[in-house]
Amino acid sequence: MEFSVKSGSPEKQRSACIVVGVFEPRRLTSVAEQLDEISEGYISNLLRRGDLEGKPGQMLLLHHVPNILSERVLLVGCGKERELDERQYKQIISKTIKTLNETGSMEAVCFLTELHVKSRDTYWKVRQAVETTNDSLYSFLQLKSKKGEARRPLRKIVFNVPTRRELPAGERAVEHGLAIATGVKTAKDVANMPPNICNPAYLLEQAQEIATEHDSLQIESVGEEQMAELGMQSYLAVGRGSVNESIMTIMHHKGGTSGQAPIVLVGKGLTFDSGGISLKPGDGMDEMKYDMGGAASVLGTMHTVAMLNLPINIIGVLAGCENMPDANAYRPGDILTTMSGQTVEVLNTDAEGRLVLCDALTYVERFEPETVVDVATLTGACVIALGKHASAVLSNHNPLAHELLNASEQSSDKAWRMPLWDEYQEQIESPFADMANIGGRPAGTITAGCFLSRFTKKYNWAHMDIAGTAWVGGKNKGATGRPVPMLSQFLINRAGLETED
Ligand code: BES
Ligand code: MN
Ligand code: ZN
Repeated sequence: MEFSVKSGSPEKQRSACIVVGVFEPRRLTSVAEQLDEISEGYISNLLRRGDLEGKPGQMLLLHHVPNILSERVLLVGCGKERELDERQYKQIISKTIKTLNETGSMEAVCFLTELHVKSRDTYWKVRQAVETTNDSLYSFLQLKSKKGEARRPLRKIVFNVPTRRELPAGERAVEHGLAIATGVKTAKDVANMPPNICNPAYLLEQAQEIATEHDSLQIESVGEEQMAELGMQSYLAVGRGSVNESIMTIMHHKGGTSGQAPIVLVGKGLTFDSGGISLKPGDGMDEMKYDMGGAASVLGTMHTVAMLNLPINIIGVLAGCENMPDANAYRPGDILTTMSGQTVEVLNTDAEGRLVLCDALTYVERFEPETVVDVATLTGACVIALGKHASAVLSNHNPLAHELLNASEQSSDKAWRMPLWDEYQEQIESPFADMANIGGRPAGTITAGCFLSRFTKKYNWAHMDIAGTAWVGGKNKGATGRPVPMLSQFLINRAGLETED
């Protein structure tokens, strides 16, 4: 998809389609009014006859409107003017894009970016429009034998801004929006790929492929032999029941000076989580191919930062592993010695993510990081607590938590903080080892965070539980690419790029 911004008047546009808003009840936006005047009341006449009320998401496609240079005019219901919030804005854009894609307009000029959205500026509106457009047109067809794509798909879209003064912000928004949308697509593609194809080695290959296109990226990998030398017994134990080798992929983005301490992102990369010997129930187990959603979002975010060539050092770690039952698999009762030297009593082999992450989090100490953020589909409890709308943020450093929540707010990629109070630590005590790998039913997301916090004392750290947000289930199931927008925003902020008008 090709995007651009422009500041022009609607009646001068010569395009396959021009998109303008109508508020409820039957009230023209100022751009729609301009078209109405030129067309001698053609649009207001239609509204008077009751063809369009202006309810959010209503669409009316007109052809050959008198005196209008464009072939089509798409009227889009925007709801009550004063109620237009960001959620509704995104829904309206999404519906518009799908309509354009299905009705033969291969290009369009869209004036919806001029709508007034509560406390959001032009940069935000254009960037969200770019991201939402790509999101709405995404499909995963690689493994369908018949692709069934639109016959005349939308190829080119111009977003209009009110005055020339907003053009630089709009152009920046397109550039950032495209980079983020690319990262989101990378994350979705790798997460949607089935587990018989997407294994830890596949994650490494995807990282290598992205690195061939971006000079700032360098890839390293740590396989089982090296993990054994490093004493990563906990990580290795989880993968022991699988025929697929555990591989930790490390992506270096060198955008800053060589002395500058890096920001490290670590993603849980369970390419399939059967639960292991503590086997999961069969219903919906297929969705556990998404248990590498954390690694997918780190991969996607690294793609974004490479595209934007952010002037800071960032390291992305994809902790690839597969959790399977097997004669050689680890078991409940096993006591593992982690890379940190701390021991863990395994009470449930399905609480495997923390066992992989704890060693990855110890491993990254060698980079002397400025900040470490891990991202993981870690607990079902997180889905119970926050549902599918917000990711959880837990941190040992308040300023970092605030920075992440800020980035979440800016990028409209929702997140909510949960506490890491010491009181919860006692739930993971063990009589035989330094800790147990589960802490009982209460506060499951927090006790998982507490477990990880015992391995992250040497740096500023935050943990994101994305169990509810990384994918949607049911018949429209698919990866969301979250939290690539939030992580990208966090890094864009760290790099000092402008993300306002
Ligand atoms: N990957 C799962 C968490 C998960 C479950 C994410 C469902 C999204 C949807 C994780 O490895 C897991 O199985 N966690 C267990 C932990 C429990 C055994 C303490 C869980 O949440 O049930
Ligand atoms: Mn599990
Ligand atoms: Zn898991």
